[in-house]
Amino acid sequence: MITKEHIDPANLPKHIAVIMDGNGRWAKQHNKPRVFGHKNGVNAVRETTEAAAELGIKYLTLYAFSTENWKRPALEVNALMALLVETLGKEISRLNDNNIQLKAIGDLKKLPKRTREALLKGIEETSGNTGMVLILALNYSGRWDITQAVQSIIKSGVPSSDITEELITEHLSTKGIPDPELLIRSSGEFRISNFLMWQLSYSELYFTPVFWPEFDKPAFYAAIHDYQNRERRFGMVSEQISTS
Ligand code: FPP
Repeated sequence: MITKEHIDPANLPKHIAVIMDGNGRWAKQHNKPRVFGHKNGVNAVRETTEAAAELGIKYLTLYAFSTENWKRPALEVNALMALLVETLGKEISRLNDNNIQLKAIGDLKKLPKRTREALLKGIEETSGNTGMVLILALNYSGRWDITQAVQSIIKSGVPSSDITEELITEHLSTKGIPDPELLIRSSGEFRISNFLMWQLSYSELYFTPVFWPEFDKPAFYAAIHDYQNRERRFGMVSEQISTS
């Protein structure tokens, strides 16, 4: 088992993004409704957030609801939205105790009023915290993010010749947040699923067969340990990395 002691504190990713997958299959394994999986998924959210903050990770982004998730049965969508309200209500004080700042990315206008209000309250009440930033991706998709960035650039009247990668980055919902060095996906699926399409260009991808409700601190440490044993070349050759 990988423990905290196996992690090199000098080589931590600044930003870790997570696709929390497998709640439904985990529930099915236990002969329970899918919502039972989501409820247990909240424990994994708590474990991961705590582990990341303890290690000194600066940004943790969790894919909590994708633009495509609206296509699920209404009962499940409503339960997820209610679970978010309930979880935010319960956990904000814990975020404050741990000096964690809450943020959200996604098309938040389209969330149900109660969910949006709970989210905005959480963001407001943790805005003074200076430790880790926990970013919830809600009604988020990578293509939505790039599309809204293009719309906002055009609206600002910038001539096309002035559009650079940096300018696009500045208009994404992750403005001011460094790109994730590491993406973790649980449940044995090997996809990006329209997550941070632009921001993941150079990220290391880590896939684990563990279903999200069973994802815990050792599983998180294992992902970081794996990341720390990789060589990140950014298009260069090995020798250039070792001499830089
Ligand atoms: C994917 O599992 C999970 C989700 C779509 C929702 C994730 C939500 C939570 C963990 C709960 C609330 C979150 C926060 C941040 C408080 P799936 O349903 O796609 O699983 P399956 O692929 O096995 O069907």
